[in-house]
Amino acid sequence: MSEAERILDVRNVHPRGRHPLIFRELDALAAGHALVLVNDHDPRPLYYELMAERPGQFEWTPLEQGPETWSVRIRRLGAPDEPRTVAWLREEHRALAPRIEELAVLASRLSSAAWSKESPAVRRALDFLRSHLLPHAHLEEEVIYPAVERGLGAAGAAATMVRDHREVEALTMALAEAAARADAQAQEGTVEAAKRLLYSLHALLRVHFAKEEEVYLPVLQRSLTPEEDERAMAVLAAHEGEEA
Ligand SMILES: [Fe+2]
Ligand SMILES: [Fe+2]
Repeated sequence: MSEAERILDVRNVHPRGRHPLIFRELDALAAGHALVLVNDHDPRPLYYELMAERPGQFEWTPLEQGPETWSVRIRRLGAPDEPRTVAWLREEHRALAPRIEELAVLASRLSSAAWSKESPAVRRALDFLRSHLLPHAHLEEEVIYPAVERGLGAAGAAATMVRDHREVEALTMALAEAAARADAQAQEGTVEAAKRLLYSLHALLRVHFAKEEEVYLPVLQRSLTPEEDERAMAVLAAHEGEEA
């Protein structure tokens, strides 16, 4: 077995925890590195999930096919020199982007007549913003933006992006207030406010993500040293450990 390959035996992991664990481990793999997954059943459902969720990112090579033990080598494809921090950010955005598009779809559906029907969807959107999107923004401020500033040789260069994050926080808070008011009395004005806030969040987040992907990722790609990449991944992994 090469150094760039390690074993992940999930036979003693609770079945419900297996796929999240495997995905976390795979997402943390550097390009060219591999996991040998050992399981007590045919991992075919994982194969289909992986191909749907991470198309083109992994190579799947079965090694042992039952009847008691199944093992498969899963190797991360891609440019071998891509820093893992860059891959992490790209993957976070890939997972968050569809939820951001949903904000506009939800806004287009909102009307005072539909409020009671749509309010659970607004609650889910709020939960997404508070539990996924804002923690993502805080991690960027702790790990990604300082690295970008070092890469650009310009302290404070990411201040405009931090300002975007504060605006997302303020809009999220305002949306929670508008939803609470609309729940209390389904007034047209409050539903209109929720609609406007959802459209604002959608527009702001789309542009913000585009700036990070088109401007910041190339800076990280060319400037991050392997040591910085390692340190950044250690911080990101520690935070993910806290959330789990
Ligand atoms: Fe951001
Ligand atoms: Fe981001």
